[in-house]
Amino acid sequence: MLQRSIGELKASVIGLGTWAIGGWMWGGSEEEDSVRTIHAALDNGINLIDTAPVYGMGFSEEIVGKALKGRRDQAIIATKCGLVWDCRKGEHFFDTGLDNVKEGGDYKVYKYLGPESIRVEVERSLRRLQTDHIDLYQTHWQEATTPIAETMQVLLDLKKEGKIRAIGCSNATPAQMAKYADVGRLDSDQEKYNMLDRDHEETNLPYCKQYDVAFLSYSSMCKGLLSGKMGPERKFNKGDQRLNDPRFSEENRRYIQTMLGEFQVIAEKHSLTTAQLVTAWTYNQPGCTHTLVGARTPEQVMENADCGEVNLSDEDNRFIRKVLAEYEK
Ligand SMILES: NC(=O)c1ccc[n+]([C@@H]2O[C@H](COP(=O)([O-])OP(=O)(O)OC[C@H]3O[C@@H](n4cnc5c(N)ncnc54)[C@H](OP(=O)(O)O)[C@@H]3O)[C@@H](O)[C@H]2O)c1
Repeated sequence: MLQRSIGELKASVIGLGTWAIGGWMWGGSEEEDSVRTIHAALDNGINLIDTAPVYGMGFSEEIVGKALKGRRDQAIIATKCGLVWDCRKGEHFFDTGLDNVKEGGDYKVYKYLGPESIRVEVERSLRRLQTDHIDLYQTHWQEATTPIAETMQVLLDLKKEGKIRAIGCSNATPAQMAKYADVGRLDSDQEKYNMLDRDHEETNLPYCKQYDVAFLSYSSMCKGLLSGKMGPERKFNKGDQRLNDPRFSEENRRYIQTMLGEFQVIAEKHSLTTAQLVTAWTYNQPGCTHTLVGARTPEQVMENADCGEVNLSDEDNRFIRKVLAEYEK
């Protein structure tokens, strides 16, 4: 598995995303499967594990902590701050509703990056993750009530104190990244990027390439739509965000399956499954250094891990882009 830098860290180009493992918005999850999935990631060359407090209101971080017991030194833990549900500061973001949050409850989630709140959050994450340091600490969403300079200063202080080892942001614009970089070294940016969501090719990817900031793609498999296994027959559990999403209509799933079929010639040339070609394509794009892929089972993560050293040629890339353009509605 290729490894690339995130600041001073070396992380596998493919990372395991653990949002689905938190259950919330994914129709639930099985703890035993989740722990086995994280172990399978480590056993198959993935050391980058991305989580966040809000994934299941602490549950995903707790599972990551349990799974890494005795194996902490094998993992680069990336977690986040700035989505809070126990205070009403910053900007109201969304309400969870009652479905599939582990402890039940109807949470009001705020975007808040105030320094005093980050200090509380980091301690909670350290406790849930059962560790004394977080490798990559990322601001999950940006908000307008706290100056970025104040947020960045507390992150730099936490780094100096050894509680975090690298600093990242997420869901940020290049202008916001520049504000972080004015105060200190910004190591990474995490954004939605996949074959069907390519807006960042015009914005954050060129910025990250120019300023040597690692770019971690999220929803890299478009929440499973690009896995090659998301046929019209797939049913979603209650509480799964894909249940009423038009992108996951039976018609669109059929359409995307047809599009993915056109990639078979490239997949076969490199001996890859569709999910592997999609994953390899993502980390082969200019500026995209790491690709986070969510998984809930060892089988999924083993498939996703087994494509960490693929070199797509310019000709392969041109072919894929031509097909993507033809299928764009
Ligand atoms: N910073 C942010 O705001 C933000 C936002 C979103 C995500 N993220 C991060 O990015 C990570 C990845 O994004 P994501 O989880 O939203 O979506 P994703 O990686 O695009 O899709 C994950 C889902 O795809 C399906 N899948 C994955 N590998 C598969 C395989 N080999 N075969 C069949 N199906 C497969 C699984 O769905 P099923 O389990 O249903 O089969 C899995 O849960 C997250 O886990 C999280 O860490 C960050």
